[in-house]
Amino acid sequence: MPWWRRSPHNDTGGDLLKVSVIGAGTMGSGIAQVFAMAGDETTLIDIYKEALQKGKANIERSLQKLGEKSALSTEPDKILSSITFSSSLDSCKDSSLIVEAVFERLDIKKDIFSKIAEIISPGTIIASNTSSISINLLSSYVKEPENFIGMHFFNPPPIMKLVEIVKGRRTSESVTKKIGDISRSLGKDPVFVNDYPGFISNRVLMPMLRESIISLEQGIASVEDIDKTVKLGLNHPMGPLTLCDFIGNDVVYDIMTVLFNEFGDPHYKPPVLLRNMVFSGKLGRKTGEGFYKY
Ligand code: 3HC
Repeated sequence: MPWWRRSPHNDTGGDLLKVSVIGAGTMGSGIAQVFAMAGDETTLIDIYKEALQKGKANIERSLQKLGEKSALSTEPDKILSSITFSSSLDSCKDSSLIVEAVFERLDIKKDIFSKIAEIISPGTIIASNTSSISINLLSSYVKEPENFIGMHFFNPPPIMKLVEIVKGRRTSESVTKKIGDISRSLGKDPVFVNDYPGFISNRVLMPMLRESIISLEQGIASVEDIDKTVKLGLNHPMGPLTLCDFIGNDVVYDIMTVLFNEFGDPHYKPPVLLRNMVFSGKLGRKTGEGFYKY
């Protein structure tokens, strides 16, 4: 019998998975929701109380949508109340799995890993939801690199099926397999990739977003027509500029910066238009304005 409790959706039984998600932003709150929907004992941690409140509201909205479609096996309220919201890192003490989903800033991640190292028990798996920072580098900040792995979810986590599981050179085979099994128990369909800049998803996505922004910068077409081209001509669910606003232009800028620095390839160089938008607070949906107004 596996050591974590399987999702009630595939009632195979098993032990309880106690999971803490650190960072209550869009991704962290969505990831916590995914674990809670699978019946796992979930704690969402953020040192900023305001972020926790926003995260809770995100989860509430999303559960309501899913509830209206009868896509949940449990009442939305019950799922929401099963999540512990905490502003103290100490709350991850007894977790068997910790998912880090804080800002894409190395110093912040490093600080979190050094703090939780003093709290957690040996054998705890730490998974990072980083979208571009090296898993091998991050694993050098933890005590047990064999128990460290990338678990890259996609926005919105409750809807998107993929988890990109990123193996560091020191990640053990057994941890890789466990995270694959856990991802499936969450109703996700994982892929396994080795640590390389941008993994697969962002290595492929970022040049497309960049070319779309540069097409706008060069006056080739309007925001709407660039999006329409990709939506209707290439059959993507969202146009690339809508997607930038959806991901967050600051996040897109940070990922492109990491990839440009790592590969040295101009195909990843953040466009000046994107830089200027980020510096002027046009981050997309979350600030009410990006390529579009919300
Ligand atoms: N929670 C619950 N349900 C949600 C939801 C959420 N957070 N967001 C959307 N939905 C539901 C809606 O209620 C709707 O349900 P219905 O079809 O039963 O009415 C359904 O999903 C479709 O939503 P909408 O009608 O509002 O809009 P769309 O049809 O455009 O779908 C979308 C929304 C699923 C987000 C779709 O546009 C999409 O797949 N977009 C692309 C998303 C994407 O590419 N994500 C990856 C970004 S890259 C990333 O995350 C990696 C990082 O490292 C950058």
